[in-house]
Amino acid sequence: MASKPLAILGGRSAELFLSEYWQKQPMLVRGAFPNMEHLLEPEELAGLSLDDTVESRIILERSPVDWELRHGPFTDKTFKNLPKTHWTLLVQALDHQVPAVADLLEAFDFIPNWRIDDIMASFAPFGGSVGPHYDYYDVFLIQARGQRRWRLGQMCDDESALIPNLPVRILRDFQPDQEWILNPGDMLYLPPGLAHYGIAENDCITLSVGFRAPSEHEIIGEFVHYLMASSNEGRRYSDPDLSLQSNPGWLSPSAIEKVADTLQRLVSDRNQIAHWMGEYLSQTKYDQNPEPPEEDYHSSEVLDLLHQKLSVRREESSRFVFTGDQNHPTALFINGTKLEFHPFTQQLILFLCKSRHYDPAKLLMFCEAPVNLRFLTQLLNMGVLYFEEEPFHD
Ligand code: SIN
Ligand code: CO
Repeated sequence: MASKPLAILGGRSAELFLSEYWQKQPMLVRGAFPNMEHLLEPEELAGLSLDDTVESRIILERSPVDWELRHGPFTDKTFKNLPKTHWTLLVQALDHQVPAVADLLEAFDFIPNWRIDDIMASFAPFGGSVGPHYDYYDVFLIQARGQRRWRLGQMCDDESALIPNLPVRILRDFQPDQEWILNPGDMLYLPPGLAHYGIAENDCITLSVGFRAPSEHEIIGEFVHYLMASSNEGRRYSDPDLSLQSNPGWLSPSAIEKVADTLQRLVSDRNQIAHWMGEYLSQTKYDQNPEPPEEDYHSSEVLDLLHQKLSVRREESSRFVFTGDQNHPTALFINGTKLEFHPFTQQLILFLCKSRHYDPAKLLMFCEAPVNLRFLTQLLNMGVLYFEEEPFHD
């Protein structure tokens, strides 16, 4: 990727950001996202939190040591009965619900897609916050509306003390040493573990572009689960070289070594790991695949719609991951499934994985090859791509 200055990184290049800031230190960018103010209305977030397919929470601060956590879906009454200040509504995976929010993710294409978790939105009136805390993940906090005061503190880890018996993770000892007020369009990057505390100055919406970093527990647990599904009962411990022991109760180093060799072979097969990672990391966040269209598209219809300049989007919850060479994918995984493709389709796959919103003129060029048209039609019929009502604009 060319190392050009990026406005959302305050004129820094992606390379510089990765080497100096990513997972290392915070970075404030004023005016990273102009025109944010009209992206979202607080009522829209409240409306989404009434929906039982949307993950939402409300956090109320009664005092610095007394916090309440409620889980959605909520009702109109919930909102009528909230105090005037000191609460926060959190709505997870807003990018799945609002295509304009999903589009923001394209600005973060210098980080692998599979590392992205979702975009969470928070709405808070004056005083609302989720308390001083740290997260295990990197986050880009984008101010979408109103003002929020951010205080940054020390680096934390599992040893850092939390206030006991609270439903939310609040640091017992927060040591702020930097403070900024973010205005709409400003962005703050925080590395994992950095203590932070964002308090709404007025009615404020903040978007959190959150990343995922599987824990070692998750990696071993999920990989073993995958191996178990394909394990071969017939392949067993064997010891044709067994030598006589003076005591039958002895578990010998050579037996331990045999099992260690088996384990090592099982967990170090790069092809298996790549296949598992492709399947696992491309699964949708909520374990639910997108709805396919009511009726399957025929290839000729797909061509017609592309000629009508209708743009194509990646369905917002869908995850595309490829393995192999950066410029020559050998395997493609979509929403947990490996898809077969013809080698001619490699360039189309690169194009589809690079962004989330596609120019129909470019797709038409790819579709001059019938294998590509068939592949595109297959993805549309799976519901992982869809035609927008609108003509394409960049
Ligand atoms: C918020 O938007 O209020 C909280 C985001 C965070 O601190 O991670
Ligand atoms: Co946080």
